[in-house]
Amino acid sequence: MKYSKIVGTGRYLPEKVLTNFDLEKMVDTSDEWIRSRTGVERRHAVADDQTTSDMCVEAAKVAIEDAGIDVTDIDMVLVGTTTPDLIFPNAATLVQHRLGIPPCPAIGMEAACTSFIYALTTADKFIKAGEAKCALVIGAECITKIVDWTDRNTCVLFGDGAGAVIVKPSDEPGILATHLGADGQYKDLLYYPVGVSKDLHKAGTNEAAITMVGNEVFKVAVKTLGNVATEVLRKAGVEQSEVDWLIPHQANLRIIQATAKRLNLPMEKVIVTVQDHGNTSAASVPMALDVGRRDGRVKPGQLVLMEAFGGGFTWGSVLMRL
Ligand code: ACO
Repeated sequence: MKYSKIVGTGRYLPEKVLTNFDLEKMVDTSDEWIRSRTGVERRHAVADDQTTSDMCVEAAKVAIEDAGIDVTDIDMVLVGTTTPDLIFPNAATLVQHRLGIPPCPAIGMEAACTSFIYALTTADKFIKAGEAKCALVIGAECITKIVDWTDRNTCVLFGDGAGAVIVKPSDEPGILATHLGADGQYKDLLYYPVGVSKDLHKAGTNEAAITMVGNEVFKVAVKTLGNVATEVLRKAGVEQSEVDWLIPHQANLRIIQATAKRLNLPMEKVIVTVQDHGNTSAASVPMALDVGRRDGRVKPGQLVLMEAFGGGFTWGSVLMRL
């Protein structure tokens, strides 16, 4: 066994859909502004009583069926999320129990929008080390629950969802290379000001809202996403021109277009879901992978580059043959 390989994918989107026209009734914005600045047309939002692990369970069921495995085959669960149900147990442990997966390592990974790439990279290392034989890896986010719905600068961007993959050992490629990074010097450009050990009493007040310097985030995102892509290609010894599909974090269509341009990739080779999903943070890459596989564009054997960038800043990329 030389590689780890994704053998099944699934996604879950909450029933409730909020269009740009719905948001026009909530804040001083317009469908035209949101579309032209972000590419977003609609996004899904969880119901009040729905949690991140609820979405994880649904996405995981689809991925398990797609992979043709049984829950008892799974020996590791990783959930990348910034919006877990509880402080503890972590979301991965809730998912392990709710799906009836036998006791196993269950890891919650928190790296903002990059959380899924961090989780997938970790699963790859466990599998290559022989420590896991079948990992369930999920990126999920209930981000609409921490959005200030009176702040037009941020509320138009985000949506909820979950994407899941099953990863197994393989003699055929496989994940070829991974690359992760973070730099906390950018913390003030994008953060959520309330946490467990900091100002918890402000939770639920209007001081608890995503804080973002949008245009500065934009500039660093484009530069960093270009760099993480070239870095993972360099590690794998693969040329840019060999990439069949770019599956980027779906934060903003303009960021995606600028990144594709830096990589000399035509937009026909990029999976774009931001128009339907908004920015679903940790869920965006695995959901876009699932969309591309299920509509027949992303095919077995093709070379796929996944990458993400998020608050911190954090960043990461995974290059794989599907
Ligand atoms: N509707 C109408 N007008 C708005 C809205 C809105 N929803 N939001 C902001 N504006 C106004 C601003 O108030 C500003 O008005 P002013 O010039 O009178 O002050 C004007 O539009 C321009 O604002 P900018 O912030 O300069 O607009 P910009 O073109 O940079 O687009 C955006 C804003 C969409 C946030 C963009 O900067 C962006 O996408 N940045 C990346 C940030 C991102 O994706 N964050 C998500 C999380 S991080 C991640 O996932 C990577």
